[in-house]
Amino acid sequence: MSKVLEIRDLWVAYEPGQWVLQGLQLQLKEAEVLALLGPNGGGKTTLLKTVLGLLRPQRGEVKVFGLPPEGARPLVGYLPQLSPDRGRFPVTVLDVVLMGRYAQVGLLRRPREADLQKAREVLRVLGLEGLQDRPFFSLSGGQRQRVLVARALAAEPRLLLLDEPSTGVDIIAQEDFYQLLGALRDREGLSVLLASHDIGGITALADRVACLNRQLHYYGPPGEALSPQVLERTFGAHMQFLLHDERCLTCRRQDG
Ligand SMILES: Nc1ncnc2c1ncn2[C@@H]1O[C@H](COP(=O)(O)OP(=O)(O)OP(=O)(O)O)[C@@H](O)[C@H]1O
Ligand SMILES: [Mg+2]
Repeated sequence: MSKVLEIRDLWVAYEPGQWVLQGLQLQLKEAEVLALLGPNGGGKTTLLKTVLGLLRPQRGEVKVFGLPPEGARPLVGYLPQLSPDRGRFPVTVLDVVLMGRYAQVGLLRRPREADLQKAREVLRVLGLEGLQDRPFFSLSGGQRQRVLVARALAAEPRLLLLDEPSTGVDIIAQEDFYQLLGALRDREGLSVLLASHDIGGITALADRVACLNRQLHYYGPPGEALSPQVLERTFGAHMQFLLHDERCLTCRRQDG
């Protein structure tokens, strides 16, 4: 299987000497979902931005489809991390999805019929066809999430980068969403790199898991990522926010 993403000895800092990513090695193959887990500030968004070519590493190498990140951008779809207070600009659902066609349309040109067709097609695939004329910010959190995924897919990417796609989405919508990603992987051969705090849910979908807290504490199949040793090394004191079930170290300690 061909390499979608190849990261070798990656070091990234925003300030000289303050390393946010330290010596990462990662790979992603075609039709694979890689889940990136880690605490706040662990470097997940930084890694996604480096893969997009928005940040330049100080050391190491990132290859996307064998190319430097800037060269591979037309093949990559990106869902940025949502902030709850992001502006309420008055755009329709269709407008938002058409933003995904900028690489094809160009920022200042009007979309052509082919772009409109592609946008309508992804809305249909995601079960959103009835919503295309609604104002984006009148939708529920889960519907918005789907629209943003539609926007990323409208670019017809071979690699999808998702930064915490389940923020603000209820558990049912979240499971639906993971099923959808699984179907796109299995049917279309899409590769997905997804940053998440949702350890329990995402490991059912992911083919591989990377536990990142500045360094990679684990990279491999999902089962072992949930071992108490790996979780404690990755999340440390943040553990209690992440996993309140039988695997939660904090709960187990409190239970005696
Ligand atoms: N533009 C920036 N300038 C300086 N430091 C930054 C910048 N962006 C992020 N950082 C720092 O880099 C570290 C990693 O941040 P990053 O956003 O990659 O973490 P994250 O894993 O995505 O966290 P979260 O789970 O909260 O989204 C943090 O310490 C953060 O403060
Ligand atoms: Mg982040």
